[in-house]
Parts: sequence; C-alpha cells; structure tokens
Amino acid sequence: MSLIEIKDLKVHYPIRSGFLNRITDQVKAVDGINFNIEAGETYGLVGESGSGKSTTGKAVVGLENVTSGTIKYKGVDITETNARHNVKYNQNVQMIFQDSLSSLNSRKRVLDIIAEPLRNFQHLSIEDEKIRVLQLLETVGLNPDSLYKYPHQFSGGQRQRIGIARAVATNPELIIADEPVSALDLSVQAQVLNFMKKIQRDFGISYLFISHDLGVVRHMCQNIAIMNKGRLVEVGTREDIYENPLHIYTKRLLAAIPEVDVVKRQERQQQRKEIERVYQEESSQYYDDEGLPYPLVQVTPTHFVALPKAQLIDQLK
Ligand SMILES: Nc1ncnc2c1ncn2[C@@H]1O[C@H](COP(=O)(O)OP(=O)(O)O)[C@@H](O)[C@H]1O
Ligand SMILES: [Mg+2]
Repeated sequence: MSLIEIKDLKVHYPIRSGFLNRITDQVKAVDGINFNIEAGETYGLVGESGSGKSTTGKAVVGLENVTSGTIKYKGVDITETNARHNVKYNQNVQMIFQDSLSSLNSRKRVLDIIAEPLRNFQHLSIEDEKIRVLQLLETVGLNPDSLYKYPHQFSGGQRQRIGIARAVATNPELIIADEPVSALDLSVQAQVLNFMKKIQRDFGISYLFISHDLGVVRHMCQNIAIMNKGRLVEVGTREDIYENPLHIYTKRLLAAIPEVDVVKRQERQQQRKEIERVYQEESSQYYDDEGLPYPLVQVTPTHFVALPKAQLIDQLK
C-alpha cells in the first residue's frame, strides 16, 4: 500500500456571475488525476503557473474540498473530515509554501509560529514547549536567539527554514512543499534543498514537491508527474522524464530550465525556439478538440504519456 493514493481527483471551482450571482461556469483546476506517493520518497508535481498544482496540494492536505475522486492515506479515504480526524491526518501531513513572508504570521515571534502546531496537537508545559522549539531551531540550523524575533528579521532562506521547522514540529509523515524555493536566489535554493533532503533522511519524511521548474525537481525527485490544464500529461521516473520526454509540454518545460553555463546558454536558446515552434505548429496533435490533454497511455512499466495511440507510435519511431 502506498502512503498516498490519489484516484481520479477533481477539484472544480464555481464561477458566479450576473445579477443573481448564479453559478454560470466552472474552473476545472484539477480534472481527473491519479498518482501515488510511497513512504520516504519525494514525488515531483511540475507544471506552468495555473496548471492546478497548488490546488492539488491543498486538496491533499485537506485545505480544499474535492469535487470527486479519492485521496487515500494508508488506505483510508481522507476526503471527509471525520476520516481525517480518525487517522490524525492534520498532524501527519503538513504543508510549506513558497512565500514565507505572507505564510508566516508577521506579528508573531518565531517561538509562537513554530509552537502553534504543537499547541494544537500536543499539550506541553511552557518549559517543554520552549525546549522542543529550541530543538527544532537547531534541526533547521537557526540560532537559539531566533526564538523572540519576528519573520521580517530573517532572510528569505532563513524564513523557509522557520516554515520547515514549523512543518516538522508534529513529526509528520508527509510534507506538501509548494514551490518551496521558487522565491529564493539560486545559491540559497541549493542550501534549502540540501537541507530538506537531510530532514527527509533524519525523520523519514515523504514530500510532495511542487514546482514550475524541472531544473529544481531533478535533484529531488525519483518520480515525477507533469501537470497541464488540470490533467497529467506525462508521468515517469526521473530518467523517463529527463532522458525520454514524449509530450511536447514536457519538452517545453525541459527547454525552459534556466541554463547557468554561459557557453551552453546559446545552444539552449536555440533549442527553446525550436520546441516553441513545434508547440505552436503541432499543438493540435497533442490536445483534443477542446484543447485538453488526452488520457494517459502506458509506454513502459513506469512511463505514461497523454497522447493518442497513432501519435505515440510516431513519437517512438
Ligand atoms: N479559489 C479559487 N477560485 C477559482 N479559481 C481558482 C481558485 N484557486 C485557483 N483557481 C484557478 O485554478 C487554476 C489552477 O490554479 P493553481 O492550482 O493555483 O495552479 P498552479 O499552482 O499550478 O499555478 C487556475 O486557473 C486558477 O486561476
Ligand atoms: Mg501554485
């Protein structure tokens, strides 16, 4: 049994309009996706802005109501509040966000920010709580004198560490990390990613790692799903996605990885232009009459792509 099993998950938002504020349409933010997260792994969910990644993350953590489908945690469907309560889901699954300045309460001291989940789930004495928060600060590499400071007194990278300390406070099994390093400079990104890996090893945590950047995901994730218009267009191992991408959308994301090497930069730019041309000219082959991705078909035991059969045979030539 996987730690998390997502089956045919849909999250549709109603659009209201007109004088009576009636529901006139809906945004299909997540439109029928399937994937599993194994215990101890980092699963990558990648797509452009607006593809439905955050909505998926919020549904998994229980912050968003699902329209249909199931999310099983150790075999229990947690899309109902009662079920979540029974398996202590809110303690075992935590979330960290991209923008730590707005996701951490700016009026609270670090002590209170990190202790908040502890106060919700454990009843420690003031002394024990302080000891636990000091331990957590040490785990994430921050000084004890951070206790009484406020979020704005830290750098972006340090604030992400505070967010992570808060997320690990209740010893969770799964952390949903929604673009955890996207707001940080490249050099700081590497530090935070390494440190997330260390925490994973030390505490046996699984991550659902959400990003728009396939460059960031490469060194974090063994299994990756590519999301486009609320659906998955390609699913596979790291090798499947980086060495044998089949969907034009995946190729486009790969071409968009920032190139640090000045020499290779021009080559990458050329590649990007070519992919963009194919995307513009041939996109009708990759999407159905409504412009939506096709259902996934299996290519190898690990690799799935959203292509019609004929198109797939062409691709594999
Ligand atoms: N609360 C909401 N109400 C209506 N539409 C929303 C809401 N949240 C997100 N959306 C829409 O759902 C789609 C997916 O959004 P999101 O999950 O935030 O994508 P991503 O995280 O990949 O950028 C977007 O079109 C977005 O505008
Ligand atoms: Mg998002």
